Amino acid sequence: MKTIGVLTSGGDAPGMNPAIRAVARTASQQNCRVLGINNGYDGIFDGNIEELGHRSLAGIIDRGGTILQSSRCKRMYSPEGVDAARTRLTELGIHGLVVIGGDGSLTGARELARRGVPVVGIPASIDNDLSGTEMAIGVDTATNTIMQLVDRIRDTAQSHRRCFLIEVMGRNSGYLALTTAISSGATVAVIPEFRYNMETIVSVLHKRYQEDRGNSIVMLAEGVCTASTFMERMQKAVPGGEFEQEIRITVLGHVQRGGVPTHFDRMLGARFGELAVMGLLQQETGCMTALSKGRTTLIDLDQVIGKKKHPAPELIRLARNLKVEFGDPVEL
Ligand code: F6P
Repeated sequence: MKTIGVLTSGGDAPGMNPAIRAVARTASQQNCRVLGINNGYDGIFDGNIEELGHRSLAGIIDRGGTILQSSRCKRMYSPEGVDAARTRLTELGIHGLVVIGGDGSLTGARELARRGVPVVGIPASIDNDLSGTEMAIGVDTATNTIMQLVDRIRDTAQSHRRCFLIEVMGRNSGYLALTTAISSGATVAVIPEFRYNMETIVSVLHKRYQEDRGNSIVMLAEGVCTASTFMERMQKAVPGGEFEQEIRITVLGHVQRGGVPTHFDRMLGARFGELAVMGLLQQETGCMTALSKGRTTLIDLDQVIGKKKHPAPELIRLARNLKVEFGDPVEL
């Protein structure tokens, strides 16, 4: 294998740049040329590529986002599109591909691998919704960002004895909401994997207010509903229709996805990037780098794509023992 292409696709995640850097450095160490494909899979179709040399890699290790830019490429959704991407990769002289991204991006990677393109995926999504790996790139930075923001919100919540309803990202996953509920001492976590009981939530919040414990934090995953919808549902569940305590809503939005990658995310990016190249050079394809019991490994994309990731039992037990109210598992 002489030339390896690398692209980032889907929602960006802090740690993608350290991963790109590790792919490029490892490839060069192994005497391969490395081409950065700009703007996700779109860059394959558009021939939007650049050689990743020392200059383009300088000063990127501490930058959030992705220097290669990203997109959600519609052309990869159809079999004809994937066929065309395979042809374009050959035309561009790319012998192996590293795809850094989430579920949708790695579905595209699997389709290319099925058509004979050597591909290794790297999980990167702040949602941590990919099966087969304990952590994806970006999750650690995002959870730290959320935790720090909730700490700030608690200052004002405490001062006014208010309840704050905080909406965080997680289209299909409650990982961000549940883990940051634990790390920031929230009272309630509302996540898609568990069916919440509104009466219980309302009574827990009411009890805290009555006991003069002042503020309460409710962490809501966007995958359940919007914060304003949840607020309406809360109001309806209150006897008399009016919450005694003042409630404020904060939607954290895309601030969760930006920022300087943490040490953990830089290391994960480095470890995954290096392993992806070494895997390609050892003829591995159709697989993804993964973290399992703290160690990096490669797993088949068939074990990842379309598989629902459930919160780890220890995490659920931890939340229960620390008295975070989050309801009962949703039957799937
Ligand atoms: O990166 C994953 C994610 O953050 C989801 O939690 C969220 O729903 C989505 O991306 C938002 O993406 P966009 O940038 O398209 O608004």
